[in-house]
Amino acid sequence: MDSAVKAKDGHQAAIAPLISLRDIHLTLVGGAGPVNILRGIDLDIGQAERVAIIGPSGSGKSSLLSLMAGLERATSGEIRINGAVLNRLDEDALARFRRDTMGIVFQSFHLLPTMTALENVAVPLELAGRADAFAIAAAELEAVGLGHRMDHYPAQLSGGEQQRVALARAVAGAPRLVLADEPTGNLDGATGGRIVELLFETCRRHGATLVLVTHDAALAERCDRIVRLADGRIAR
Ligand SMILES: Nc1ncnc2c1ncn2[C@@H]1O[C@H](COP(=O)(O)OP(=O)(O)OP(=O)(O)O)[C@@H](O)[C@H]1O
Ligand SMILES: [Mg+2]
Repeated sequence: MDSAVKAKDGHQAAIAPLISLRDIHLTLVGGAGPVNILRGIDLDIGQAERVAIIGPSGSGKSSLLSLMAGLERATSGEIRINGAVLNRLDEDALARFRRDTMGIVFQSFHLLPTMTALENVAVPLELAGRADAFAIAAAELEAVGLGHRMDHYPAQLSGGEQQRVALARAVAGAPRLVLADEPTGNLDGATGGRIVELLFETCRRHGATLVLVTHDAALAERCDRIVRLADGRIAR
């Protein structure tokens, strides 16, 4: 029943899934030979659904998210997001698709060091054609508690503050899809809790789909569904 999604009035409605993965394999060739990182993933995620991806270290969670973000290409299989088949898009089209459709909070998806916090959030909005980019960016930074740090460069921010700027950047464009990989990884309990609240609240407000990788069982439980990865497969 993957494509059955709770509609706003609480009834079950069959809507085409926002994300659909079919028989996804990812094999990377390292120094020690090929590594089969993902080994046949089938997964549908509905519009506005919140899905937690959990599993042991090395099970392929971040790799799966990178494929959904179009940052990595599957070795085989089909990834369809919001009607687009990612495998068929070239790099430019993928970059545009990312910009228009998703917000990404990855630990490795760094802020640009030569831009202030405000510019890091505003410039992608400007590129997407938003006239009010700086006003939106300022409001999002206020919302993550960084109103007093807008003119700081990433090197002048703590790890947790950088993570909050990254969250503000990810959600500022009100994307259909938010992909988050351990979004509270660098943060203390209180700050992490606030970020989680912001993440859920923003997704709810915009009806965004959320795919969240986490080691935190309590956080996973807050999602609509938990998908467990083990050794590159979905554990049933
Ligand atoms: N470029 C690469 N070449 C070869 N193997 C890789 C490469 N990148 C990742 N791997 C391997 O793929 C497997 C899955 O990695 P991935 O980062 O997706 O795991 P994960 O579930 O996110 O783990 P963690 O919870 O520790 O973040 C790991 O065994 C990792 O060593
Ligand atoms: Mg990971």
